Amino acid sequence: MKKETEKKGIGVCKAAVWLAMPFLAVGAAFGELADVESRVEEVLSRLTFEQKVGQLWQCLGKDMVEPASGDMSGETLKESFLADIRAGRYGSVIGKRGVANYNRIQRAAMEGVGIPLLIGNDMIHSVRTCYPIPLALACSWDEDLWRRIGEAMAAESLLEGCNWTFTPMIDVAFDARWGRIAEGGGSEPLVTGLMGAALVRGLQGADMADGLHIAACAKHYVGYGASLGGRDYNAVEMADSTLRNVYLPPFKMAVEAGVATVMPAFHSFNGVPCSASKYLLRDILRGELGFDGMTISDWAAVKELVNHGVAADGADAAESAINAGMDMEMVTPCYAENLARLVKSGRVSMKTVDDAVRNVLRVKFRLGLFDHPEIDEAKVSAVVDPAENRALAREAARKSTVLLKNEGGVLPLGKGAKVALVGDIAANAWQMMGCWNTKDMSNFENATLLDGLKADGIDVEYSKAYTLRGRVDTEELEKALAKADIVVAAFGDYWENSGEGNSSAKIELPGEQLKVAQTIKARGRKLVAVVFGGRPMAFPEIAELADAIVMAWNPGGSGGWGVADVITGIAEPYGRLTVDMPSASGVCPQFYSRTTTGRPATFSRKHPFGRRFTSCYNDASLKAVYPFGYGLTYSTVAYSNEAVRVEGDTAVFSVDVSNTGSRDASELVQVYVHADKASIARPRRELKGFRRVALSPGETAHVEIRVAVKSLGFFCDGGRFELPESFTAWIAPDSESGRPLQFAAK
Ligand code: BGC
Repeated sequence: MKKETEKKGIGVCKAAVWLAMPFLAVGAAFGELADVESRVEEVLSRLTFEQKVGQLWQCLGKDMVEPASGDMSGETLKESFLADIRAGRYGSVIGKRGVANYNRIQRAAMEGVGIPLLIGNDMIHSVRTCYPIPLALACSWDEDLWRRIGEAMAAESLLEGCNWTFTPMIDVAFDARWGRIAEGGGSEPLVTGLMGAALVRGLQGADMADGLHIAACAKHYVGYGASLGGRDYNAVEMADSTLRNVYLPPFKMAVEAGVATVMPAFHSFNGVPCSASKYLLRDILRGELGFDGMTISDWAAVKELVNHGVAADGADAAESAINAGMDMEMVTPCYAENLARLVKSGRVSMKTVDDAVRNVLRVKFRLGLFDHPEIDEAKVSAVVDPAENRALAREAARKSTVLLKNEGGVLPLGKGAKVALVGDIAANAWQMMGCWNTKDMSNFENATLLDGLKADGIDVEYSKAYTLRGRVDTEELEKALAKADIVVAAFGDYWENSGEGNSSAKIELPGEQLKVAQTIKARGRKLVAVVFGGRPMAFPEIAELADAIVMAWNPGGSGGWGVADVITGIAEPYGRLTVDMPSASGVCPQFYSRTTTGRPATFSRKHPFGRRFTSCYNDASLKAVYPFGYGLTYSTVAYSNEAVRVEGDTAVFSVDVSNTGSRDASELVQVYVHADKASIARPRRELKGFRRVALSPGETAHVEIRVAVKSLGFFCDGGRFELPESFTAWIAPDSESGRPLQFAAK
């Protein structure tokens, strides 16, 4: 039986034609645009210079309440702060403060200067509901899921008193050592861009001004994921072609989705800090991508131009940043303290200041703040259903979980199965959260893996036996092993070791986890390893030893339910990796889409790590333990009749996909290509499209993935675009498998 590709499958076509699409602000008809522009000019014309500068400063909210703290809801706003707001000293505040304080701030602003504030905070994957970290969520490859999460987060953010969030983080990242790999979509521009754009659409809605949505912020612009050595905040050296082919596309997709704001990154890019780069901010972001929203510096990044060594002091820093196109300064007062002098001396033009203010006002108008400065709590509350959001978080955790190994069909655990569950993290709800959780667990479901397995009908004997970074209590482990033939062991690392400022030179599993796995196997038990963590980790020995491996990431507040649902088969496995799982720390960055070399590594029984004089290491495999795109189902799926044809501007990749097993399967069909000959060395494979298909046992689906031919091309240094004549394609379940197919593009 054949059936049409699942209709609500992930659309690849719009991604595939990103190169060709002109910029269009979402929902902005020409009339509306003109209206916003004239209102911007009207407001600008009545501002004093000081009030203009105020619009360009985002102050730190926690200094504005008594007593000072991170969460300001329920606390008293200082009168002096409200007076500053009335005077128009700030254009924005960072920090969440609850609806009542939000409305007080906006009332003060409207009574005084007459311009409402952008009130922003980092709601990356968690507001009241905690969803899986973005790296996990990306493994769903599910745009609709991201959009729905964006919708839900927008409303919850408003209830926290914020109209702006610093997400999506769309930094393509290859290096597992970089802690911030947790915050983005992984190593593939296409997946990162599609998921990020979907989140923008969810957060901002079809109409950002409807009182139920908030402004998004695409960050960190650009190339942050390429920081040398995977060390956070480190310098980036990058060819222009790499910028355009790899790091820029997700930002282009976010701009096309209408993202309201963009945050330049901390690092220096080929020597020039992004915060002071005219090339990146004016020439590319505004000139080429057509972005007409607002840029906001990263935390203190304007002042840090002094640390970079490209500015002598705050005045110098302000001059470089605003001239480069940085509209608003986060936290530090370089603009506030220096712009008057800088304009007077001619180092910054009045037009530059006015343009920056225009960009800020434009976002405020688009957000509808002038028309309804206050949050209508009743209206927002009516669309927030905590139970529904938790169900969404559970769905997200299910879809983010990746089944990496399942030998002998040890999984799914049947109802009533008896298992021993070991490891501290298996019973720790806090450790399900992830790097940008909002620290307030009162709203979360707080489900642990232990809770989830029990709720799904598993007969669980839990003992801690070991901590992830500590020692094994051998006696306790032995006792646990005596209780069941199947042992579910929770491995990985704590979320506090990933995220910002958490780069790691070692990405092997810490503590005595290997010893735990060895002991379990030495006692003849079946080992189900469930790996938690905020980065790809190296666990080649455990991958060998374990009977089953489940990559659970940091699955969020309902994570315990969602991960257990996959382990027990209540939900079929859905996730596929969006990063490679490295074989060792020393091979990082390890990624399937690496550039071809003159001496590609060749492997054999005699040379398992690669033959000498080929591009490999002597002591670690270049092959990922699990490659990008990989993930199993509980069924078996066969690919046949793979073919490529070119119809005018479109390349059509087709395949018959059959469920040859006995359970339902959710298959993710992926298309990779490699240019047979190009003027520069190209990735050995690159993802160009994908489509999900649901298959019942015995069912075959004919899947077609249509990709714009133009999207197979690439940029060379100097911006020249090249479309090679012929390609090799693989239509496959992951980035390392499939049958090569040659085709001519023209
Ligand atoms: C991070 C940003 C974040 C900002 C505000 C910075 O340290 O790099 O991602 O949005 O802080 O919290």
